[in-house]
Amino acid sequence: MSAPSAGNEQPWQFLLVSEKSLLEAFPTFHPFANMVPEAPLAIVVCGDLRLEKVPGNWVIDCSAAVENLLIAAQSLGLGAVWSGLYPEEERVRKTQELLELPEKVIPLAIVPVGHPAEQKPPARRFDASRVHHNRFQEK
Ligand SMILES: Cc1cc2nc3c(=O)[nH]c(=O)nc-3n(C[C@H](O)[C@H](O)[C@H](O)COP(=O)(O)O)c2cc1C
Repeated sequence: MSAPSAGNEQPWQFLLVSEKSLLEAFPTFHPFANMVPEAPLAIVVCGDLRLEKVPGNWVIDCSAAVENLLIAAQSLGLGAVWSGLYPEEERVRKTQELLELPEKVIPLAIVPVGHPAEQKPPARRFDASRVHHNRFQEK
């Protein structure tokens, strides 16, 4: 909830899901969420369109919140994964049904949180060709 948001609109809602039957439902409609039932907790980050002041910005605001959440989990020695829901229509609809979300509360991502089974070194993806000074240059 400390994330920046357009006009400070803070359009997020966070659902903390710990019921096993709910966690187990996600892989039935989300092909890349098999890890969700293995975690004790998953946080579903949603945008509440009723709270939006600057139309079109809820995805950006809530994405900033998801990233903060991932960094916070890592800093606590936990593991977390951004698992996308929006804009996949079926994932959004099934999540809304499962968690009884109001129509205007759109699930952006489900983030399972747990104790990591393995430790990986940080990714090294810096690519100087993607950095441009003053004007865009094809490299
Ligand atoms: C919008 C978005 C959706 C994602 N959806 C999934 C997902 O459904 N399942 C998953 O395991 N990872 C998902 N990821 C994580 C990416 O696969 C991951 O960030 C990428 O492979 C790079 O790996 P790293 O973040 O561990 O360095 C998603 C990431 C983003 C930003």
